[in-house]
Amino acid sequence: MAEKDFNFKIGSGDKVRILFVCLGNICRSPAAQGVMERLVAERGTADRFEIDSAGLYGGHAGDLPDSRMRAHARRRGLELTHRSRQVRESDFDRFDIIVAMDNSNYDGLRALAPTPEDERKIVKMADFFTQHPWADCVPDPYYDGAQGFENALDLIEDGCEMLYEFIMHNS
Ligand code: 4NP
Repeated sequence: MAEKDFNFKIGSGDKVRILFVCLGNICRSPAAQGVMERLVAERGTADRFEIDSAGLYGGHAGDLPDSRMRAHARRRGLELTHRSRQVRESDFDRFDIIVAMDNSNYDGLRALAPTPEDERKIVKMADFFTQHPWADCVPDPYYDGAQGFENALDLIEDGCEMLYEFIMHNS
């Protein structure tokens, strides 16, 4: 597997806690949550993980994922039922790894992190791409057509694979 130089430490607690973060928590991060939840279930390791998602913008709090993202995910066999919520300060305490979908999300999370130790928990999804090495983020599909949603799901599935491998080799 790729040699990555991450600063975060995976806790020695009972579970590895992962939080996926985008802007609205209705397109990319609930999709990443769904993809990762399926992945750990398929590998028989669901009991070792807690997986959640949140958004930097709270305007969609309480909403289901965007109907377009739900439709595209459903075509890949995923039912997305997460309810949107905003990132909160206690997330930096609770989660071991906080995965930003794009560079703006990454900067926003770093600005919110209460301590330098918390800042080190923040990573970019793009750091785990293996099939799309030219891509530097999961682009926001909200104002795009169908291709934007397919592209986001392709990138998310790619990143989750390596993120999973990385965690299993480092916990
Ligand atoms: P997401 O997409 O960050 O992938 O959930 C967006 C959803 C809503 C908005 C922006 C991006 N918005 O501005 O309402």
